[in-house]
Amino acid sequence: MNRLVINADQDGPAISRHVYGHFAEHLGRCIYEGLWVGEDSPIPNTHGIRNDVVAALRKLKMPNLRWPGGCFADTYHWKDGIGPRKQRPAMVNVHWGGVTENNHFGTHEYMELCALLGCEPYICGNVGSGTVQEMAEWLEYLTMPGDSPMAALRRRNGREAPWALTYWGVGNENWGCGGHMTALQYAQEYRRFQTYCRHFGGQRLYKVACGFDSQWNEVLMREATRFMDGLSVHYYTGGIPGRNSATCFEEADWFRTLRKALDIERLIKQTKGIMDAYDPDGRIGLVVDEWGTWFDAEPGTNPAFLYQQNTLRDALVAGVTLHLFAAYCERVHMACIAQTVNVLQAMVLTEGPRMLCTPTYHVFEMFKVHQDAVRLPLALDAGRLAQDGEQIPRLSASASRDASGRIHISLCHLHPAEPLTVRCEVRGRKVASIKGRVLTAPQIQAHNTFDRPNLVRPAPYRQARLVRQGVELEVPARAVLVLELE
Ligand code: AHR
Repeated sequence: MNRLVINADQDGPAISRHVYGHFAEHLGRCIYEGLWVGEDSPIPNTHGIRNDVVAALRKLKMPNLRWPGGCFADTYHWKDGIGPRKQRPAMVNVHWGGVTENNHFGTHEYMELCALLGCEPYICGNVGSGTVQEMAEWLEYLTMPGDSPMAALRRRNGREAPWALTYWGVGNENWGCGGHMTALQYAQEYRRFQTYCRHFGGQRLYKVACGFDSQWNEVLMREATRFMDGLSVHYYTGGIPGRNSATCFEEADWFRTLRKALDIERLIKQTKGIMDAYDPDGRIGLVVDEWGTWFDAEPGTNPAFLYQQNTLRDALVAGVTLHLFAAYCERVHMACIAQTVNVLQAMVLTEGPRMLCTPTYHVFEMFKVHQDAVRLPLALDAGRLAQDGEQIPRLSASASRDASGRIHISLCHLHPAEPLTVRCEVRGRKVASIKGRVLTAPQIQAHNTFDRPNLVRPAPYRQARLVRQGVELEVPARAVLVLELE
């Protein structure tokens, strides 16, 4: 019998809500069209920000939103994005299709978006092509409550009070698009830039240094541990060249993609090992501030815009990845899936005035019950799936207890075709009732389209039976399940 044992009487650490974070870059149709349509748009908006997308995203309880990039961040000069929009200079978005960026969405618009979403800002500053002064002034503009040149400029632009701000990234992928630096070069730049990254209201900034592979992270930790609060790494799950369609794939690709997604554990373990050596008390957070699937752009769309569809497979990738973040939540303090709208593994896709929520969106909505909840230790024995000499677990699980004492269990069943019976034993707690929701579909390639936007969406789950010491579950194939026990 397949078994899941939840130790409800043993508290683990809290799973920070910030691991359920998001990322929006000036890339393709993420910001423009996806989030920002402008005040004159016929699409209903609040000061230029799309109402339908905000309403959908609010249901996710988004904890943070990383912006403005990505590679774009190290080309971005924030002063181009403030003041009257018509007077803002344009620039070329060199990384993403060479399109003209009119800078209509800048600091004020982003901060208003965060306020509408109810999430915290997480800004990534420009190290690659920016200056220390430019970064320091941006922080002064954002956070200075008193009199200063940048606070005066902010006030002239219509904002009296500083904004609340905690999370600050010092560069993005500076080993690549952010300057092609060596590890030591970046470590030295990081030390210099971060010195001038101040919260002018006197609060503490959470400063995130840009990490990469083991060799880079070792150098960076050796040189700069005491100057950082977070170390960022990125992890994308793609298919193999020539077999990388978001929607046209077979069971073998399903398996390969999920295996690749689960392999993020190797990156987490490796990075954690280095961090543990330099930061044994676990003060510094591992910040996975870009992750998700990266498939071929939808046929007929600009390949530089990274617009991809999102199937049940993406939902499973999201579920197993979030489970791993929870499993390592002592070290993984924050994560941001790439990207919120119309780019890579998006929550929401738009087409003119139309909008749909992806299967990945539903996983984030279902998993929000784990935010800031106490992780419960568990043991799982449900077998493995094998293909071409590789194996993956058949089932992935996570359990937590929220502030009101409710226990939530999430399960990802990776078998593409066959259901599974699981006996779930809950130790240290009598289970009086159980309810849940399940996300699945008849095909592994199932996805939502603008004509059928609700093909893949959660449904009530009614295949649980209370038994002695717990519950017995019939878990459908290719499914994400979230249960609530009382
Ligand atoms: O998310 C798309 C890109 O992937 C980001 O701009 C970059 O940081 C990463 O390589």
